[in-house]
Amino acid sequence: MNSRIDDTALQVSLGPLKLQNPVIAASGTFGYGEEYAPLIPLKRLGAIVTKGLSLEPRKGNPPPRVTETAAGMLNAIGLENVGVKAFLQEKLPKLRKLRCPILVNIFGNTLQEYGEIARRLGDVEGIAGLEVNISCPNLKAGGSIFAADPRSVFQVTSKIRHATSAFIMVKLSPNVADIGKIAQAAEEGGANAISLINTLVGLAIDAHTRTPILGNITGGLSGPAIKPVGLAMVWKTAQSVKVPVVGMGGIVGAEDALEYLIAGATAVEVGCAHFIDPRAPLKIIEGIHKYLQAHHLPDVPSLIGSLRLKKDSAS
Ligand SMILES: Cc1cc2nc3c(=O)[nH]c(=O)nc-3n(C[C@H](O)[C@H](O)[C@H](O)COP(=O)(O)O)c2cc1C
Repeated sequence: MNSRIDDTALQVSLGPLKLQNPVIAASGTFGYGEEYAPLIPLKRLGAIVTKGLSLEPRKGNPPPRVTETAAGMLNAIGLENVGVKAFLQEKLPKLRKLRCPILVNIFGNTLQEYGEIARRLGDVEGIAGLEVNISCPNLKAGGSIFAADPRSVFQVTSKIRHATSAFIMVKLSPNVADIGKIAQAAEEGGANAISLINTLVGLAIDAHTRTPILGNITGGLSGPAIKPVGLAMVWKTAQSVKVPVVGMGGIVGAEDALEYLIAGATAVEVGCAHFIDPRAPLKIIEGIHKYLQAHHLPDVPSLIGSLRLKKDSAS
């Protein structure tokens, strides 16, 4: 890297969590982290978010679980994972050696499950914090997702806040009416940061057989097709809360990441781009560095939320 500006220029703070650069590997697209160790130097990433973890192991959905779509993909993995106990015994000891902050993505189907998993993982050595996936059905409230209702978002966030003093980042769903109100509920509940967007609900159909392509019928849409949705939601969220926002959705290159930073994100997560190029996050880090130099900017924070609105733009 040419260092007319030094590497500290890439540092960002997510509240109490300091990152060497703003590029994070997104949950469910990077295994438990260690799987990518033979492919890229993980210590160069800002952070890694693990695959979503539940209290007990889960087998996930019937196949097919993924299918390609125009400028993206649909997945219905069904949150398959090894569960907390196996994670702590088998995965975490290896992750501790990676020299990269590890955020553990967690989910549950009741408030109690969220509280319990946060209690068991929050203050464990080697875990830098928790990313809370709230795009799961709330079984005690008729099965609509926690993320859809500000009251449930507040409840789940405060449940976790009371269970641990760890850094918590609540991950929002785009499948909601008013993202600003949802983000405020997470902030009021005690979130240190907000990340978004999770996938959008989608359906792929085979017209010849007239059957759904995925075993689960519907799935989550990700990839470049969702970037404009992610950017709009990050922009709205950054104006609605004081805590830092982490943006994602369709980031494949440095320019995508820069757009999220300009929209108001303090950091970004790279998701299904890893399936095309495992080195994508490294290229993005280098691209951000080059952009700072080319635009004579001192550091990443000077870029965050720097969207220039035309005089007659709607506010
Ligand atoms: C195969 C796959 C599995 C995913 N699993 C999870 C998960 O376990 N927990 C979670 O919060 N998000 C999960 N996501 C969502 C991603 O972390 C990310 O929010 C989404 O894919 C949008 O980013 P992208 O367009 O860069 O992929 C998954 C996405 C994919 C493609």
